[in-house]
Amino acid sequence: MTDHWQTLGAQAAGAQERRISDLFRHNNRSAVFSTQTGDMLFDYSKTNIDAATRDTLVLLARDAGVEDRREAMFTGAKINETEGRAVLHTALRNLDGGAVMFDGQDVMAQVHDTLAAMRRFANRIRESGITDVVNIGIGGSDLGPAMATAALSPYHDGPRCHFVSNVDGADISDKLRGLDAKTTLVIVASKTFTTVETMTNARTARAWMRDHGGDPKRQFAALSSATDKTESFGIDPDQVFGFEEWVGGRYSVWGPIGLSLMIAIGAKAFDAFLRGAQAMDIHFRAADLHENMPVLLALTGIWHNQICGYATRAVLPYDERLAMLPSYLQQLEMESNGKGVLMDGSDAPHHTGPVVWGAAGTNGQHAFYQLIHQGTRIVPCEFLLAARGHEPDLHHHHQLLIANCLAQSKALMEGRSLETARKIAADKGFTGADLERQARHRVFGGNRPSTTLLYPQLDPFTLGQIIALYEHRVFVEGVILGINSFDQWGVELGKELATSLQPVVDGTKQASNDYPSTATLVAYIHRHQG
Ligand code: F6P
Repeated sequence: MTDHWQTLGAQAAGAQERRISDLFRHNNRSAVFSTQTGDMLFDYSKTNIDAATRDTLVLLARDAGVEDRREAMFTGAKINETEGRAVLHTALRNLDGGAVMFDGQDVMAQVHDTLAAMRRFANRIRESGITDVVNIGIGGSDLGPAMATAALSPYHDGPRCHFVSNVDGADISDKLRGLDAKTTLVIVASKTFTTVETMTNARTARAWMRDHGGDPKRQFAALSSATDKTESFGIDPDQVFGFEEWVGGRYSVWGPIGLSLMIAIGAKAFDAFLRGAQAMDIHFRAADLHENMPVLLALTGIWHNQICGYATRAVLPYDERLAMLPSYLQQLEMESNGKGVLMDGSDAPHHTGPVVWGAAGTNGQHAFYQLIHQGTRIVPCEFLLAARGHEPDLHHHHQLLIANCLAQSKALMEGRSLETARKIAADKGFTGADLERQARHRVFGGNRPSTTLLYPQLDPFTLGQIIALYEHRVFVEGVILGINSFDQWGVELGKELATSLQPVVDGTKQASNDYPSTATLVAYIHRHQG
């Protein structure tokens, strides 16, 4: 059998000899190296992937079993093997599809019942005089709803939503300040209902509500799989929305964890959000790998990271309301694919998930783009851009935003030659050796890869498509790498040590001599705490 990794390595060496811009000499590259689903367009023409490389990448995906694994995921097989769980977040948005079987049972009746209960509750809250909703959660119980609520602010017609995640008292203190405890709903979002940050914040919020005339019995709701624990916390079972263990935390915004979003934008808009994801699911499940948007996005990722060795990728939404998308994707991608062993427990032979980072454009241009354009490391950039904004009276702002986004990918690819830079320096009046030195600082090597995701407007449907696109991208990369994208053992050790260190920090226990550095740091802290 051909070793596709080896072939790709050779193709990457060949790609070093050419410039991305040269690939555009072949007819119609923009059309051939882009794909569309619905109104969404993914353009990967400004990468150094040619037709042969794309074919090899598709073979790599196919031979890794992406198609079988994809079917296994959609049909409820326990593909999260280390936890013995199915991965069925797609069922949460399967509004118009058929049965989804898990352990011999169709889960869709339960999904529809839970959605109906969420709708009833959201409608009641929206009509009840509640002015503010505080969602307390962390990781997947925070980032999804917080990111989506910010993204869809033009659709807000319900109470204001606030998100508290950090155990740092500054977070809850700043968010509760100015809220009226009598008209605030607190939602405690935690799949396990044991996460120390969330439970600490939940208890603080409950005390605040009691002290300020609110009624925690009526004004607390919970989103969790652990209904026994929500009950012992004292939350009215009628205000508890449960979900199954086959919904992973970072894949959970589509169900009860999305309740704050539903309250903010209403049930109808939330349905549109689910339908956008459903549309991406249908595309992902049916489209040929050569045309399949999540697969192609994943393959550009594999090409850049594992084959070309670019360790990070920047996600750059030219859409202010997607400013939280990079943080959201950090959890989705890095918690899913930041693994060191394969499914069978052997060492991963390739680097696994890349470092994902980024910020909204154009702000990033005035911060870190210097390194992206002229630094010594190549950072593949993933641009996102809407054709239309939501501010018709500020159309000129949007036109400028678009021009900036398009300019960046063009500049990254084309760069600026020494010859042009010399002319610029000469025009500025430099001469001789000084001209040469000044010119060199103004050269852009170019040949830096980027992709662009275009959509008509950031509405609920489109946001659903975008999130599902990235979820499936992570899945495809995980299958190709042979890792389990659905567990997160790497977060455990720090949690355990934090628990054992708490009495040391409180001063009720001596720091162990095994950790002289920790002891020194704790001693400093105690000195400064008086
Ligand atoms: O610490 C990691 C993690 O388990 C995430 O995977 C999860 O999204 C987050 O913590 C919150 O967990 P929970 O919803 O159980 O509070």
